[in-house]
Amino acid sequence: MAERSIPLIDLRAAQRQRPAISLDPIAPSGHVADARGRELRDLRISVTDRCNFRCSYCMPKEVFGKDHPFLPHAELLSFEEITRLAKLFVAHGVHKIRLTGGEPLLRKNIERLIEMLAALRTVDGTPLDLTLTTNASLLARKARSLRDAGLQRVTVSLDALDDAVFRRMNDVDFPVADVLAGIEAAQAAGLAPIKVNMVVKRGTNDQEIVPMARHFRSSGIALRFIEYMDVGATNGWRMDEVLPSAEVRARLAEHFELRPLDASAPGETAERWAYADGAGEVGFISSVTQAFCGDCNRARLSTEGQLYLCLFASRGHDLRALLRDPAVSDAQIAGAIARIWHVRQDRYSELRGRAELPPEARERRVEMSYIGG
Ligand code: GTP
Ligand code: 5AD
Ligand code: SF4
Ligand code: SF4
Repeated sequence: MAERSIPLIDLRAAQRQRPAISLDPIAPSGHVADARGRELRDLRISVTDRCNFRCSYCMPKEVFGKDHPFLPHAELLSFEEITRLAKLFVAHGVHKIRLTGGEPLLRKNIERLIEMLAALRTVDGTPLDLTLTTNASLLARKARSLRDAGLQRVTVSLDALDDAVFRRMNDVDFPVADVLAGIEAAQAAGLAPIKVNMVVKRGTNDQEIVPMARHFRSSGIALRFIEYMDVGATNGWRMDEVLPSAEVRARLAEHFELRPLDASAPGETAERWAYADGAGEVGFISSVTQAFCGDCNRARLSTEGQLYLCLFASRGHDLRALLRDPAVSDAQIAGAIARIWHVRQDRYSELRGRAELPPEARERRVEMSYIGG
């Protein structure tokens, strides 16, 4: 029998390189635009590269097995280091911070980090939009303490309601009932608005589209359908497993009347539609069939402090080296961040859509579990 084998390419060490960028200090002005005029507004911070699930589209078991070399603790940014960087990003105009992983609730004392980040204020003097992406396996236990620490809202990844389909997709036999209990606990704790993200894979969970919509209608929770992406290098992505959002919408339209809504914020990932009967909204994240790079304002900080300018980047910029150099000041790190953002050109999904990828973009790419969704 032919075995499925996926090459594991570990890019992490190769990427650790101090940014070849001037360290002249820059006093942040609250706005920094990239080479395409896109302002830095959203910072996603991966707090662990570990996860207790093995979703095949993200951390396939064949690659992320028992002996997988996850990062040792000393390599991770400490909470103080994360907060120091977050403060500089906020001074450059970041308004939203999302904690991701792997599974962020696996990071010990995550509540402490949330407290530290919740104390930051945007350049307008408002609290940050502070949120977290989770598989909800630990949410029933943690929702209250997360809320008490200052977390505003959560986004839960959930790919099916049917228990057998869900257990197959998370590939660790985790029951869907525990995720639903986590969502309920988040609702009870006031972590609102809650969003649910469903990655749709044709032939795997597309039969769950309508049941998921039916379940979350009228719940105050926005369900978002995500096109399965070719992120990373290990998930064996194939275009024929992508179910385009237009098709998802057509399947929903057989059961529910939907009306398009205006985008609520520039740079938004999801196209939003409302149920005509007032039962709430759904979203479509169509990175494969309708790229949204045009106003992409997202920066990503990996677990060990590499700054990535695109989900599909193959290299990052080593901010940890700057943080851990006692001779480098905050103003110098702020200068480095501004200069790195300033020359940013990334628009991977747009180019892939037009089949115009430059050779370096076809290169090996980092895993989503390492830089976060
Ligand atoms: P909200 O502020 O809650 O609307 O969050 P968001 O949609 O910005 O972030 P979320 O993490 O919920 O994004 C959902 C999914 O969209 C991710 O898990 C990815 O699959 C995809 N996604 C998010 N950001 C990007 C991006 O910059 N590029 C691409 N190609 N996909 C993205
Ligand atoms: N395609 C689309 N989304 C993905 N995610 C992870 N891998 C992929 C992929 N290949 C996203 C999902 C999940 C979050 C943690 O990361 O949205 O909910
Ligand atoms: Fe874990 Fe989320 Fe990746 Fe699944 S998609 S393996 S839950 S990080
Ligand atoms: Fe932004 Fe890159 Fe995603 Fe485009 S592909 S939206 S540039 S992260």
